[in-house]
Amino acid sequence: MRTAVVLGTRPEIIKLSPVIRGLKEAGSDFFVLHTGQHYSRNMDRVFFENLKLDPPALNLRAGSGSHAEETGKMLVGIEKALLQEKATGVLVEGDTNTVLAGALAAAKLHLRVGHVEAGLRSGDMRMPEEVNRIVADHISDALFAPTENSKKNLLREGIGTSRISVTGNTIVDAVKQNLEIAKRSGGESRPKEKTGYILATIHRQENVDDGKVLADIVKGLGLAAARLGMTVLYPAHPRAKKALHRYRVRVDPKLIQITDPVDYLNFLRLESGARLILTDSGGVQEEACILGVPCVTLRNNTERPETIEVGANVLAGTVPKVIVANARMMLERKRSWRNPFGDGKAGTRIAKAWTAS
Ligand code: UD1
Ligand code: UDP
Repeated sequence: MRTAVVLGTRPEIIKLSPVIRGLKEAGSDFFVLHTGQHYSRNMDRVFFENLKLDPPALNLRAGSGSHAEETGKMLVGIEKALLQEKATGVLVEGDTNTVLAGALAAAKLHLRVGHVEAGLRSGDMRMPEEVNRIVADHISDALFAPTENSKKNLLREGIGTSRISVTGNTIVDAVKQNLEIAKRSGGESRPKEKTGYILATIHRQENVDDGKVLADIVKGLGLAAARLGMTVLYPAHPRAKKALHRYRVRVDPKLIQITDPVDYLNFLRLESGARLILTDSGGVQEEACILGVPCVTLRNNTERPETIEVGANVLAGTVPKVIVANARMMLERKRSWRNPFGDGKAGTRIAKAWTAS
């Protein structure tokens, strides 16, 4: 089998890095096809550097646009690249437009499709990610579910058990492989208060593309900082940075420090040193849980219910007072929950199973 590992965004580079390492170790014939969905240096290249990955063999430079524009450009480019490179299989990870385009282009060419992080469900079809992950799961031949819970979601939708393997989540591998390196290397500046700091990330379409919701969240972050006596550090995704500017959201820099996105090693260090994490990111909910840092999710649902079940995370929505109440509650939590996402060997497991298939 000749595999195209199709990726395009920050979390896919991070979560596929252990699989790419595993494919190399297994002596598999593969190449990395980057769609170019993310392209700013701090959303793309820094992760290849941090994770010591070879630059992608091909980059389609599809760039940003509406959902149809992004997905359409990628579909056409991926199909051409798969034919040109004589790929016989495609691996995708997660729930982005890149995943939808990669899985769909491959399925239409009758290539074997493998979906890493299969079976996650938020139950909210208004999220673009939910549509992408459902389509990708149903057209994949090999579904690598991170947990038993994600396997159950797939079985419930009628996907045959022979197509599914429970592998653990590759984010555990990524954290294990990089946390010590992160702690040893340089250092992003962070608030110096003895009381500690809160780390925040907000970038999800439904939270930042609505001016009222975004203003509410920022108010909640400010209120949490003031009431809990800690600065909020917020490395802002470009989508969020643009929205803050567009909606002229007022941010008190004494309470909330907004920076550009940081690289993976710096972000891991910021996460592991935080007293609390406020986020709407999927990957950050998982990492907080793995690192033993309490998390408050600024959404009304999550496709990572395991983090809530073990006591590491809580859903707070976007109402300022509710955010603060949940932040206060989570600060009191004992940080002794178990990690529900596996043993950190998911990348090797997936690469072996895929290569043998
Ligand atoms: C995408 C994924 C989301 C994932 C996130 C990871 C979809 C539907 N969404 O959202 O699930 O959580 O990536 O970070 O695929 N931009 C830049 N530089 C970049 C990339 C984006 O400036 O390198 C800006 C552009 O203004 C762009 C906007 O961010 O229009 C949104 O980018 P896009 O890739 O469409 O979606 P994300 O919000 O990044
Ligand atoms: N991340 C990073 N720098 C940042 C913010 C996030 O390296 O400034 C990493 C984080 O460690 C996690 C991943 O990006 O592994 C999460 O990506 P994101 O929140 O963009 O997407 P999601 O997981 O919600 O799809």
